[in-house]
Amino acid sequence: MKVLFLGDIVGKKGREVIRDLLPSLKKDYKIDFVIANGENAAHGKGITYKLYNQLLEYGIDCITLGNHAFSKKEIIDYLNQADKLICPINHINQLGKGYRIFKIKDKKICVINCLGTFMFEDYALDPYKEMDKMFKKTRKENVDYYIVDFHGEATAEKRVFVEYYKNKLSAVIGTHTHVQTADEQIIGSTAFISDVGMCGPFDSIIGRDSEECIKKMVKKEKTKYTISLNPAILCGLYIEFSDNNKKAIDIKRIQIRPSIK
Ligand SMILES: [Fe+2]
Ligand SMILES: [Fe+2]
Repeated sequence: MKVLFLGDIVGKKGREVIRDLLPSLKKDYKIDFVIANGENAAHGKGITYKLYNQLLEYGIDCITLGNHAFSKKEIIDYLNQADKLICPINHINQLGKGYRIFKIKDKKICVINCLGTFMFEDYALDPYKEMDKMFKKTRKENVDYYIVDFHGEATAEKRVFVEYYKNKLSAVIGTHTHVQTADEQIIGSTAFISDVGMCGPFDSIIGRDSEECIKKMVKKEKTKYTISLNPAILCGLYIEFSDNNKKAIDIKRIQIRPSIK
C-alpha cells in the first residue's frame, strides 16, 4: 500500500500547486491513497465545502484538519455530507468525525486527525483518551492501517505520541508548523515525521504575506490577515506499507520548491 500525505494546503497558491503537481506525483510514486491537511485551504484559515470538493477533484482522497478546522463556520453545516473530511478527534466541541475508515483495494485504512495540546490547551482534549476510545470503537472493523495526522506545535509532543503508539499505529504524520522537518523515520513499524511541511506560498511567513507580518509584529500596526500570493512549495511524505505484515517499509520526504525565474 502506497500512501501520499500532503502538508497543510495554504490559500490559493497552495491549492494551485496541488492541482498542478499531484497528478504526476501519483503516477511517479504509484500512489494508492492520498491524504492532505486542508485546515488552511480557505485563505489561510479553515475550509469551505466548495474548496473541500475542489481539492477532492484535484485527486485527494481524504482531507484532515487542525486548529483552524472550524474557522470558516459554514463547513459545520456540511460535516455530514463531507464524508472524506476528518475533524480533530479531541476538539472540545466534538464536531464531525475524528476518524474515518476507507476501503482501498482490499484493505481498510483508518485516518485519524488529532490535536496536540501545547498551545491548544483551551480547546484540545486529552489525545490519548480520545485515541484509546477510537481503538475500542474500531476493534471489530479489522482495520489494516491506522494513519494519524498529529496536528501540533511542539516537536517533543509529537515524538512522545509516536513512541507511545509505535507498532500500534501505521503512521504518525506531524502537521501545523508548515515547516518540513528532516527527521522522517520508521520507528518500530510506524512511519513518522515531526512535521510534513506545507503546500503553500514559499516566499512567505509560513504562508502569510511577509510585509504584513512585519507591520503587525515589529511595527505593531493593525493589519488585515493576508495570505501571500507568491509561488508555492509542495511538501509531502510518501509511505509504503507491506501488504503482508502491514508494517511501514519505506518513507520518503517530498519537497518541490517553485523554480526561480
Ligand atoms: Fe494548524
Ligand atoms: Fe496549518
